[in-house]
Parts: sequence; C-alpha cells; structure tokens
Amino acid sequence: MGFGISTCPATFDRVLVTGGHGSLGTALGALLGTFSEVCHSSVDLPEIDVADFGAFARVVDGFRPNAVINCAAFTDVDACETREAEAMRVNGEAPGMMAAECRARGIRFVHVGTDYVFDGTGTRPYREDDPPNPLSAYGRTKLAGEKAVLSAYPEALIVRTAWLYGAKKSFVRTIAEKARRGEALSVVNDQHGAPTSAGDLAGAIFLLLEKEASGLVHFVNAGETTWHGVARQVLDVLKLDVPLKAVTTEEYLRSRPPGSPPVAPRPRYSLLDTSLYTRITGKNPRNWKEALEERLKITS
Ligand SMILES: NC(=O)c1ccc[n+]([C@@H]2O[C@H](COP(=O)([O-])OP(=O)(O)OC[C@H]3O[C@@H](n4cnc5c(N)ncnc54)[C@H](OP(=O)(O)O)[C@@H]3O)[C@@H](O)[C@H]2O)c1
Repeated sequence: MGFGISTCPATFDRVLVTGGHGSLGTALGALLGTFSEVCHSSVDLPEIDVADFGAFARVVDGFRPNAVINCAAFTDVDACETREAEAMRVNGEAPGMMAAECRARGIRFVHVGTDYVFDGTGTRPYREDDPPNPLSAYGRTKLAGEKAVLSAYPEALIVRTAWLYGAKKSFVRTIAEKARRGEALSVVNDQHGAPTSAGDLAGAIFLLLEKEASGLVHFVNAGETTWHGVARQVLDVLKLDVPLKAVTTEEYLRSRPPGSPPVAPRPRYSLLDTSLYTRITGKNPRNWKEALEERLKITS
C-alpha cells in the first residue's frame, strides 16, 4: 500500500536534494520521479559536498530550486565519536549555512533531525518541545545543526525521525543479509523505538511542505518495538529460519572483540510523538510492521 500523497506540491516544482544517494535521498528521488512531468529534482546532478560552502551557493544559483531538502549527513554514529570536528562541519555547520543561503533567496528549506538529540530516559514518546540532551557526538552535532538552521531561518522545516531504513545500508538490510548467509543472530532487546520507512518519511516531508509547516515536526512510523523485534519481523516476513537471541546492550558491548572501535551510546528510548504531524497534515503514520513488510517485499 502506498503512502497517501498524490500530487507534487505545485509551488515546489524544482527540488534540490542534498545527500541524494543516501537512504532518504533515494526515497525522495523515487517520489519526485513519479511527478516527473511537473517536478524537477537534482538527482541527476553531481552530488554537492555540503561542507564546501561555496559549492552549495553555486549549485543553488545554477539549478534555481524553490525547495531544498537536506539529506546529507555524517551518519556513521560510532565514527562521530572519534571524528566529531568533521561530523560537526557536515551535521552542525553546513545546515545553518544552507538555511541562510536559502532564506536570502526566498527558497523553502527542509532539514532532517534525529532522536539522538534525546538521552532516551523518557517514558513517553518525545514531543518537539522536550529538552534535548544528546549522549553521543553524533547527537551533539545533529543538535547543533537544528539550532543553526532555526537561528538562520526560523521558517525552515526540521523533520526529526528515528530508526530509518530504505534502499541503502541499514539495520534491516544487515539482518536480512546475515540471515540469508545462515548466520545466527544476537540482537539487543532493551532499546525501544519505531523503525521508519524512508519512503514514508519522504511522503511525509512533501505533505508538510504542502501544508507550509515550519519549525520542528516529528515523524516516525507508528507502534513500538526493540531492535530484536525488528529482526524477528525481518526473519518472519522473509521466512528465514536462523537462531535469533535477545541480548541486553551490556551483553552486546561485552561480546565485542578486544580492540574494537568505540561504540557511541544509544538512547534506550527513541519513540517520537507524531501528534503535531497529524494535526498539520490530517494523516496518521502507518504502523511500522506494515511499512517494513512492504519494503522487504520490494527488495526481496
Ligand atoms: N538512518 C537513521 O536511522 C536516521 C535516524 C534519524 C535521523 N536520520 C537523519 O536522516 C537524514 C538522512 O539519513 P539517511 O539514513 O538517508 O543517511 P545516509 O543513507 O547515510 O545518507 C546520507 C548521505 O549524505 C551523504 N553525505 C555525507 N557527507 C556529505 C557531504 N559532506 N556532502 C554531501 N553529502 C554528504 C552520504 O554520502 P556518503 O555515503 O558518500 O558518505 C549519504 O549519501 C540525515 O540527516 C540523518 O541524520 C537518520
């Protein structure tokens, strides 16, 4: 079943997508492709290095988009622990620069945020105005990016999401690949969240653009599970029969070989409250199991 979006927002017929080769960028490119008669996207342009501030302005002036969607990010959460300055340039500073360039030209700007801005000690889904408290370098750089965007361009839209999967490398894909090789799996069962389809998020971003939403808005698929629950669902949908053991985060960390690179702390609770999204768009995100099953059927 497709996501409930049927039209390219009429006022956004030239869309520049940065990080267009990543999971979300690919999903946005696919969605824009379905509107190809009215909607022109940047997917065929060479990838812009958003850390090269001059390059972004040059591409914007050449392509003349009426909306920019920034999907570019330093997303290797563990590598951020040892390369925070590099990650800060891409996740923290570049989004603010892009937002300022867009504001100066009257271009809508959309940025993507993460549950990692929260510390995961919450006991109910996080709302947009809950205080952030990142545990990791990745979370700190992404929080700096949110602040930079809203300071440079208060009317910009930031869509926070979590546990994203799509056509590129993701937890879902890794589990499917390991299981197909017949590997036994040990997966943590004490981190809670909602896996979110990049395709559903791409649709949600367009609905929010159509509604002229601004500021922070949370979007994740509905329901709640753990990484172990996600792995169980992947195995069930793909009918793969390998041993799947539930472990705690502590057990997982202890099982890593000596000398393994540092692992960034993860929030134990990553649920995001999507009631603002529903109030703005009139739509409810669909359940994570339905979205995941659809994705697995497309790719298997
Ligand atoms: N994945 C998740 O679970 C998750 C959860 C919450 C929020 N988010 C956010 O959602 C957004 C999209 O994430 P995603 O899952 O689509 O990530 P992704 O698949 O890793 O895609 C990110 C893209 O950005 C590119 N990139 C990295 N540095 C760049 C630079 N300096 N200039 C231009 N492009 C650059 C990457 O290229 P290379 O591959 O060549 O480096 C990659 O194509 C990000 O803002 C991320 O923080 C993701």
